[in-house]
Amino acid sequence: MSTTSLTSAPSTTAPTPRTVLAGIPAYVPKPPAPPAEGPSHRLFLNENPYPPLPSVREAIARAATQTNHYPTIHPERLLDALARRLDVPPGHLVTGPGSVGIYQQIGQAMLEPGDEVLYAWPSFEAYPIVARMAGAVPVEVPLVDGVHDLDAMAAAITPRTRAVFLCEPNNPTGTAVGRAGLERFLDRVPGDVLVVLDEAYFEFYRSPNAPDGVELHHDRPNLLTLRTFSKAYGLAGLRVGYGVAQPAIAEALRKCAVPCGVGRVAEEAALTALHVETELFERVERIVAERERTRESLLALGWEVLPSETNFLWLPTGEASESVARDWERRGLLVRAFAHSGLRVTVGSAEANDLLIAAAKETAPPAR
Ligand SMILES: Cc1ncc(COP(=O)(O)O)c(C=O)c1O
Repeated sequence: MSTTSLTSAPSTTAPTPRTVLAGIPAYVPKPPAPPAEGPSHRLFLNENPYPPLPSVREAIARAATQTNHYPTIHPERLLDALARRLDVPPGHLVTGPGSVGIYQQIGQAMLEPGDEVLYAWPSFEAYPIVARMAGAVPVEVPLVDGVHDLDAMAAAITPRTRAVFLCEPNNPTGTAVGRAGLERFLDRVPGDVLVVLDEAYFEFYRSPNAPDGVELHHDRPNLLTLRTFSKAYGLAGLRVGYGVAQPAIAEALRKCAVPCGVGRVAEEAALTALHVETELFERVERIVAERERTRESLLALGWEVLPSETNFLWLPTGEASESVARDWERRGLLVRAFAHSGLRVTVGSAEANDLLIAAAKETAPPAR
């Protein structure tokens, strides 16, 4: 019989997290912004300024009566609806709690420790985290004038490169490479390297040269295209993203999905959003028109603003970025400052954009 006392001294050792986590910044909640003089506008997360349509709210309310039940392991009805909408077999689809959820699946399904993961920088902030979490080595290729340098990226591919993350159009700069440039790049990527084409802003992309990753995936077995219900469909708070790839990749990712990761409320909202897409896309049209109006106004005031194919604008304000953001915050414009680099400003409601233009008029643009 054991003589160990139940009251023995607490152990001085503790389980240690994986060492790779040391390189991943811990989440620190953002301190509340100083009180603004008037209403404040969330222009820092590339959200849709419009609340859900009444039909989507009704679907959410209906689904809310069922929350004592588990959803299906994968959101089958949504998968079927997406398959019809995109004209792809359901086996080419994967879903997740937002496209960031699918990135975690990519890390688990496709990356081994020591693999290299290539992406441009600055780009979507999740990329280095996904790579590091998988024990992979992030390889960052600087943007040139805010745009992907696809030649430099192709040249940076090595025998250890396992995946390329390509944000088209790019967050945070809003710029795009276009279909021809993308296809030339894809032709240079070895077939055993996964290319993740992140089309989170696909619906805002107006250039006639916009690529369509869903279309491209048919001829490219190493391509995975990611899209989301968070931006154009206005469901960021419900977390639904999806990916399209040929079956071998799609199946691997589905194996790594958190079971029931897309809840029933989220699934019903996404299904209804697909159903009322025409109405939602009228809103997207308004956001695009506001994007162009706001950019033109800022340019006329002497601010530098990159052309954007997204629902946000990038102002390369360099060292002034944080002080301009603080000033605009006091005016109720909560924008995202990237230290020493620039400001990313979501295209908001017409009222928010007017406020932004007024603030930009009263703030001297930083010297170029
Ligand atoms: C390029 C890019 N990919 C993915 C996401 C995340 O989307 P989701 O809300 O679907 O996780 C974002 C969000 O800002 C993004 O900018």
